[in-house]
Amino acid sequence: MARVRILDLKKSYGDFTALKSISLDIPSGAFFTLLGPSGCGKTTLLRAIAGFHAQDAGSIWVDDVSIGEKPAHLRDVGMVFQDYAVFPHLSVFDNVAFGLRQRKVPTAEIRARVGKMLDVVQLGPLAKRMPHQLSGGQQQRVGLARALVIRPKVLLMDEPLSNLDAKLRVELRRDIRDLQREFGITTIYVTHDQEEALAVSDQVCVMHQGIAQQVGTPWEIYSRAANLFVASFVGSNNRIKAAVSGDRLEVAGASIPCPFSHAAGPVVATIRPEKLRLGATDPATSICVRGRVRHAMFIGRELEIGLDAGDLSLTALLAADARAVGLGPGDEVDVSLPLADFAFYEDTENGSLIA
Ligand SMILES: Nc1ncnc2c1ncn2[C@@H]1O[C@H](COP(=O)(O)OP(=O)(O)O)[C@@H](O)[C@H]1O
Ligand SMILES: [Mg+2]
Repeated sequence: MARVRILDLKKSYGDFTALKSISLDIPSGAFFTLLGPSGCGKTTLLRAIAGFHAQDAGSIWVDDVSIGEKPAHLRDVGMVFQDYAVFPHLSVFDNVAFGLRQRKVPTAEIRARVGKMLDVVQLGPLAKRMPHQLSGGQQQRVGLARALVIRPKVLLMDEPLSNLDAKLRVELRRDIRDLQREFGITTIYVTHDQEEALAVSDQVCVMHQGIAQQVGTPWEIYSRAANLFVASFVGSNNRIKAAVSGDRLEVAGASIPCPFSHAAGPVVATIRPEKLRLGATDPATSICVRGRVRHAMFIGRELEIGLDAGDLSLTALLAADARAVGLGPGDEVDVSLPLADFAFYEDTENGSLIA
């Protein structure tokens, strides 16, 4: 178990700045996820922590030891890669044993530790197989076993599931989370998949353009996105132009007492699709709009509808009851937008949360 701290880390490639002063404090034993779109700097940050490339500025700490200048093999971190990176000419057993042999661990101990680790990742019976005889999911289990068997203080994983099909991804992410808990190992996990990040993490850092936009628990990130980037990247959100005028707020065709204090002018209101309700409700607690259904899609548990209400375009996720699934394009419906479920942001490119 180890606490990991990153202080003011910067990294450029030529004149392109990939990391713009990242600082993170990762508690001992946490499952910590770097989440962001492709190109936002996740791999760059992970490789700096692993020691695969040097940062331009800043420091990296594991407990009270600064590791930012140490060579990779002395950092006591294990790494799992997106493309598995198993050695094709070595058996499953030898792949997992590799790091132990490098560290000159006695043969009997290697046999015991590798055997145990292969059982943990459910590959015991496949110890003699070669990588080409394994499925993608099994190869990634080899990658995981190989990283864990050296008992690193920190486990780094760079999009370990993105080459697997959807069902296996969900299965393996659960296994990874269970293993991480069992080992209690501080884990820094990279993904561009927001659902995956919410599902497995103790804490998530949302990244965009080399900047940490918000760090929080999955619930904090989802329910109180710090800015408009996070609000639209994590889950989906309706985005509604609104305006403050005196102590009133004009939003979605309604004028309500402004629930926050702000200078007169435009702001952005957001509300999650699953918060919209079919039918009109109490105007004291909800804004009611009448709209025309653009599309209605039954997607299992829920029905997604897109609707136009004047110049508003909204998406609603409704419980798929008989009334909702009967809706089709062109139908007129009332929907309610509960006031308590709105969030308000500054009306700028990546506006910050106001309330
Ligand atoms: N070796 C490199 N040389 C130049 N630019 C790079 C290099 N590696 C990454 N980049 C750029 O830095 C940015 C961040 O890359 P990366 O950390 O791989 O993002 P992510 O893992 O979030 O997709 C991207 O715009 C990428 O094109
Ligand atoms: Mg990457």
